[in-house]
Amino acid sequence: MSQPTVDRALFDQVMVPNYNPQQMVPVRGRGSRVWDQAGNEYIDFAGGIAVNALGHCHPELVAALKDQADELWHLSNTFTNEPALRLAKQLTDNTFADKIFFCNSGAEANEAAFKLARKFAYDNFGPEKNEIISFKQGFHGRTLFTVSVGGQPKYREGFEPAPGGITHVPFNDIEALKSAISDKTCAVVMEPIQGEGGVIPADPDFAKAVRELCDANNALLVFDEIQTGVGRTGELYAYMGLGVTPDILTSAKALGGGFPVGAMLATDRVAPSLGFGTHGSTYGGNPLACTVADKALSLINSKEVLGAVAEKNALFIEELNKINAKHNIFSEVRSGGLLIGAELVEAWHGKAAQFLAAAREEGLMILVAGPKVIRMTPSLIIPDEDIREGMEKLERAIARVLAA
Ligand SMILES: Cc1ncc(COP(=O)(O)O)c(C=O)c1O
Repeated sequence: MSQPTVDRALFDQVMVPNYNPQQMVPVRGRGSRVWDQAGNEYIDFAGGIAVNALGHCHPELVAALKDQADELWHLSNTFTNEPALRLAKQLTDNTFADKIFFCNSGAEANEAAFKLARKFAYDNFGPEKNEIISFKQGFHGRTLFTVSVGGQPKYREGFEPAPGGITHVPFNDIEALKSAISDKTCAVVMEPIQGEGGVIPADPDFAKAVRELCDANNALLVFDEIQTGVGRTGELYAYMGLGVTPDILTSAKALGGGFPVGAMLATDRVAPSLGFGTHGSTYGGNPLACTVADKALSLINSKEVLGAVAEKNALFIEELNKINAKHNIFSEVRSGGLLIGAELVEAWHGKAAQFLAAAREEGLMILVAGPKVIRMTPSLIIPDEDIREGMEKLERAIARVLAA
């Protein structure tokens, strides 16, 4: 049988159309550079949507994965394994958490978190305490429960009936939360910086007030750190910079540095409610995934990596301001470390995707966060030369869109 031509056209033939990928097909990556089938080179400011925190094919991650590949691939949770235990120990040693649940993605980590929040309230206060409060524009994944807790109706429209008992209030509006929270609330769920929603940081006073309201109402505070976690903001987890500690935290994306893994972190007070048999995942704690994550976490959780994030952030902002001085295209640039969002001026609202396509033509990978924000989530160790060169490409891409 002849081999099929594997190109972008084949995507439209054989893939469910829920994605619309760019026209080229990337085949190789090293550091913050990627090459496509035709040999074109790209600078990567997208980082696999905040996943490749150590760039592409980091040699220590590759070595760890190859070593583990010769030892043990999979067991299921009928048995535990050394890589999962090592990773759990590293996570508990370096965060507020005492207990870890492993899964394969962000949505699954949140699913576990929301189930745990409900179960903890059920066990300790009774079945009436089941309401979850979350925030408008928030994003928590694409399962039915997580799109329901997420605050963007477009992601659940057409999939109803959605799970009930969920209320959405405006982000950074403590009065709105005060009006919504009650003794029926089992959890408040938030991102320390709303990522998909447009790179909107939580006001630190707001985050502190959310914690206080949770405590006053016996509700758990769940931080979704799937995008902000594992070094993205320059802290290992963003809660450390906010000075607000959640009861449950979810992590995925950068945790595996590109290998799929998710984790739910919880305190000893709440974790027992996910007792034996209450929840599970065949692949959760997979030895290959946990080996890579254990290595990624230890490399990222260092002065060398975390300490450089603020400087790289400053370079990104400086370069974006230079572009803006020339083209007057951004109304605001917001960021937390290397989670960066540049909101387009009103005339370009709804058209952010045009800039993504133009950047690709210039040899640059960027992201959007909704229809009006250009988002960048590069490797935490992207070289300064790559930032400068990428920004030259971005400037050309913007000039090209504006001239069209
Ligand atoms: C804050 C946040 N939560 C959850 C998710 C879902 O993660 P995953 O796509 O791995 O299920 C994402 C993904 O973008 C995210 O940014």
